Amino acid sequence: GKGYLKSNLPFEPIAPVDAMVDAMTVPEGYDWNPVIRWGDPLFRTSPAFDANNQTAAAQALQFGYNCDYTDVIEIEGSKGRRAVLFANHEYTNETIMVPPTLAAAEVRGIGKAAHGLSVVELERKNKNKPWTYVQGAPLNRRYLTTTPYEVTGPAAGSDLLKTKDDPAGRTILGTLGNCAGGTTPWGTILSGEENFNGYFVATGTSAGDRRYGITNRPTARGWEIDEPRWDTRNAGYENEKNRFGYIVEVDPLDPTSTPKKHSALGRFKHEGANVTVAADGRVVAYMGDDERFDYLYKFVSTNKVRPGTDPAARKANMTLLSEGSLYVARFQGNSVAEIDGTGTLPSDGAFDGVGEWLPLLIDNRSVVAGMSAAEVTVFTRLAADTVAPTKMDRCEDVEPNPATGKVYVACTNNTNRGVGSNAAADEANPRSLNRDGHVVELTEAGGDATGTRFTWNLLLVCGDPARNQATYFAGYPKDKVSPISCPDNVAFDSQGNLWISTDGQPSTVGFNDGLFKVGLEGAERGRVQQFLAVPRDAETCGPVIHDQDGTVFVAVQHPGEDGSWAAQLSYFPDYVPTGAVPAPGEAALPRPSVVQVYRA
Ligand code: FEO
Ligand code: CA
Ligand code: CA
Ligand code: CA
Repeated sequence: GKGYLKSNLPFEPIAPVDAMVDAMTVPEGYDWNPVIRWGDPLFRTSPAFDANNQTAAAQALQFGYNCDYTDVIEIEGSKGRRAVLFANHEYTNETIMVPPTLAAAEVRGIGKAAHGLSVVELERKNKNKPWTYVQGAPLNRRYLTTTPYEVTGPAAGSDLLKTKDDPAGRTILGTLGNCAGGTTPWGTILSGEENFNGYFVATGTSAGDRRYGITNRPTARGWEIDEPRWDTRNAGYENEKNRFGYIVEVDPLDPTSTPKKHSALGRFKHEGANVTVAADGRVVAYMGDDERFDYLYKFVSTNKVRPGTDPAARKANMTLLSEGSLYVARFQGNSVAEIDGTGTLPSDGAFDGVGEWLPLLIDNRSVVAGMSAAEVTVFTRLAADTVAPTKMDRCEDVEPNPATGKVYVACTNNTNRGVGSNAAADEANPRSLNRDGHVVELTEAGGDATGTRFTWNLLLVCGDPARNQATYFAGYPKDKVSPISCPDNVAFDSQGNLWISTDGQPSTVGFNDGLFKVGLEGAERGRVQQFLAVPRDAETCGPVIHDQDGTVFVAVQHPGEDGSWAAQLSYFPDYVPTGAVPAPGEAALPRPSVVQVYRA
């Protein structure tokens, strides 16, 4: 049903913003400001950000770069005046971050310290005011490449994870490529290790290296120059690459807790994970592998949730994702598949069909012939290949709607669909050369999230309908929707509406990326309305929709990423005027930030 409080987020959709514009654009009647920026000091001892005098030691005490998953969770008992913000730091853009005169080793150190995760406390005077972050607050924490993670599940302690530094194969230093994520019903944060392959050098010849895109070339950031573990050809570090590519779980309310890497959820280019509680109390995590022609997965826990978000419940529930069953999805359409350039729909008028979840693990035991449970969890792509799942157009966020239980899968794009010997279009991925992406709506049979059968249909086949007939908006009039391309992150508001943020619109529809509200029910179904647009070259990430508070948060990732130190393309969010001296803590360069948008 509807939320217990009314939504307080009325808006008229903004017009699409041309891709050259370096501005944050919000609806009329709304203001925005950054809650926290790359380089902002987190601890009492943290130096203020100084763009021209950066060091790795300072960066380790400051907010990191390129946030993706974000959540803002009110602290119980604070009357809505304190909250904890979680954000991850997916990757770095050294060419626009640091002066080119800086020593190469210092640049590597800054880049490394700008990766990882951050937890930061926020406060506000009252419920109608915007938030500010609190330097030196007790819950503030940076997770760096030196932070230990406990491995859980079938891979823990296996030979596949053992290294010279960790002969037990149970403790991993650092998390990498953290992309989307999810907040669990028990109040912890899940974060997906996505493009971890780019941080490792290997022989590049094994089946695993080839399937995961790990090569023998020097890495872009060169961390292997300083630390032997990043070059897995070094004796004793052969397995270091097997220790990334997982879902990590963090307790943002306990800064001394040890975060986990849950191997039972598989190892691939994890976009993120979102958990729902099934009717019987087991928990189900939905997950995408963001690679062209890779798969959609879900995990069903063996054990049942302990209700509540108190510390004891959180601790008990942080074991749920260590034991369970891992499935990969196969979709089957029921009519002619492809949407063509004239926009002709499938013969039965809908992109739809049935599907099944194919097991790889049942209660942590392998059901894949010839592979142990540890092998299934470390080489999950190879395990999944044996059961012929559906090759998808890059599954990004996969999230169940709390209002209905229906699961939404953002397939961002796949320009190789139908090219050469690659898979042809099918009804679930219905466009060759899919530049604009689509959104799948999946309904578990009988509403049981633990089951193995589902039905599905496409909610959106994205694009600019003014210029692309091969688009579909669930039947909503195409001349009354905002153009949308490359769906990436999804979120829901208290009324059960879907919100989608995008990554890649400048190169497909020529507009800056943004955040869009999509109706799902009745006459509103398929109505896409753009809420905001991010500045030049930026991606819109981590949407958090606090509609009852009249507030939306987004992470503005990689603004101005195609620029250089000498020729920056974005000055978001400080926008220091040309020739002016930046105020203390400001900088005349782009700073990836978490932004709040609120009613003026
Ligand atoms: Fe980091 Fe799949 O986006
Ligand atoms: Ca059909
Ligand atoms: Ca993403
Ligand atoms: Ca992305």
